[in-house]
Amino acid sequence: MAYIIDGKKIAAEFRAQLALDVASLTQTRNITPGLAVVLVGNNPASEVYVRMKKKACADVGIASFSHELPIDTTEDDLLALVNRLNHDPNVHGILVQLPLPPQIHESRIIQAISPRKDVDGFHPENVGLLATGSPGLRPCTPLGIMALIAKSGMDPAGKHAVIIGRSNIVGKPVALMLLQAHATVTICHSRTHHLQQVISSGDIVVAAIGRPRFLGKEAIQEGAVVIDVGTNRLEDGTLCGDCDFEAIKHKASAITPSPGGVGPMTIAMLLANTIQAAQQS
Ligand code: GUN
Repeated sequence: MAYIIDGKKIAAEFRAQLALDVASLTQTRNITPGLAVVLVGNNPASEVYVRMKKKACADVGIASFSHELPIDTTEDDLLALVNRLNHDPNVHGILVQLPLPPQIHESRIIQAISPRKDVDGFHPENVGLLATGSPGLRPCTPLGIMALIAKSGMDPAGKHAVIIGRSNIVGKPVALMLLQAHATVTICHSRTHHLQQVISSGDIVVAAIGRPRFLGKEAIQEGAVVIDVGTNRLEDGTLCGDCDFEAIKHKASAITPSPGGVGPMTIAMLLANTIQAAQQS
């Protein structure tokens, strides 16, 4: 039976430490870390995420500034808001919740955010710093995944890490972080030939596919560490991951549940990035 990597509990431990870091910043430098959260439109999933992010801020003493804009907001209006937030000394982190409506180019918005306030780690400057192994703000979900792998007790050095999914938010950055941690890294995607064969050679498997229970136990090597990034809503309203948790838990050495694995860690890392941005301000 695999060790169940309890992301909810690990994230709570992180948040307890982060609350102390906030208190120390306030005491030593009289700074309250501030996060601006920008939501355009009313995508129900985005609304839930944004609400959770604001609550998590309040719990550790980070000030959050909410900006909820109508679905027909123009790109120029959003750029103007980002520009204002870039210059606001009370705002140390800027999070523009994705996806954005089709009239707005996501890349233009991401590039307009000051790299020093880019707590998502999506700005090309921060992506370049990650790619070259230099200090910078890193994407939150990959940071959370690395922390969960560390908690599994597996050192990625020399191991084969197989990532399924090549998004800019998860697949690509987590590949770079695992490479930095000396893993041998394979990124798989929808066009990969012999997918099952590649996955079954992974000592570490990161599933970021977005398809409910896509990975069964036959795909996984005995003793693999399995990180399930997926959160899929089923027709009956319940949530499940990209992995068949009940089947895989008997074969893996460690596995994250979903929900309750990567998700809570993503939010904890957003808080950590906001504090880091405030410390460096
Ligand atoms: N939408 C889904 N995941 C994310 C994320 O990590 N950051 C932002 N800004 N939007 C998202």
